[in-house]
Amino acid sequence: MEEKGVKGDRVSTDQPVIRLDHVSKIYPLPFGDVTALDDVSLDVEPGAFIAVMGPSGSGKSTLLNVIGCLDVPTKGDLFIAGRNIGELSDDELTDLRRDTLGFIFQQFNLIPLLTVRENVEYPLVLKTRRRESEGLVEELTRRVGLEEELLSHKPSELSGGQQQRVAIARALVNDPEILLCDEPTGNLDTKTGTLIMELLTEVNGQGKTIIMVTHDPRIAEYAHRTINLVDGKIV
Ligand SMILES: Nc1ncnc2c1ncn2[C@@H]1O[C@H](COP(=O)(O)OP(=O)(O)OP(=O)(O)O)[C@@H](O)[C@H]1O
Ligand SMILES: [Mg+2]
Repeated sequence: MEEKGVKGDRVSTDQPVIRLDHVSKIYPLPFGDVTALDDVSLDVEPGAFIAVMGPSGSGKSTLLNVIGCLDVPTKGDLFIAGRNIGELSDDELTDLRRDTLGFIFQQFNLIPLLTVRENVEYPLVLKTRRRESEGLVEELTRRVGLEEELLSHKPSELSGGQQQRVAIARALVNDPEILLCDEPTGNLDTKTGTLIMELLTEVNGQGKTIIMVTHDPRIAEYAHRTINLVDGKIV
């Protein structure tokens, strides 16, 4: 493979799938500005599995939201899949977020009135305006280890672990390159959390880049690399 970049003493053959170049995020508040991210630079190679750790309020969720294009950097540049986010139109940004990024949250964030099948299909419907998924929902259901009979159930009828599997299936439905997970096991008991981490490890092995925020060092061990944030800085 062609050599594309040399970083320090490490030779990288892949372009980073995510690049933050001196990114800061400042929230202006009446009693003074809050610097949630302070001059963060970061390269993420395709297929990486990164844990983001740090004390409460250190900027972990802000980092994830900025990478997820849910929040805009105050300073600096963000590149996702080689594209400078600051140069995209609103429509291009919406497309990129939908097609390249999948989100998994601590609270699962499933839509309570929709069935499991409808929840998983939801991002696909937003994209194609059609519900024809040609067995994709069933395939994803198998992939995340959910029984197919649960597809007709409502999220409230499922255990926390099952709900998180639905959320992972939903995050995968548009086949994004990147999965962003904010405390994905935060609402689960240890045993269920381990099963979800085994699933995320499998998904990473299938080529997805994963960035995962966690407080728990045992959960961070599943990642290949850990980034520590303190006061909005990588330390
Ligand atoms: N929308 C916002 N408006 C104002 N300040 C914010 C906003 N979002 C986050 N902050 C502030 O930015 C800082 C970083 O917050 P962030 O939520 O990223 O921390 P965190 O590391 O995810 O914390 P936790 O572990 O508690 O989830 C905090 O001081 C927080 O109060
Ligand atoms: Mg947070």
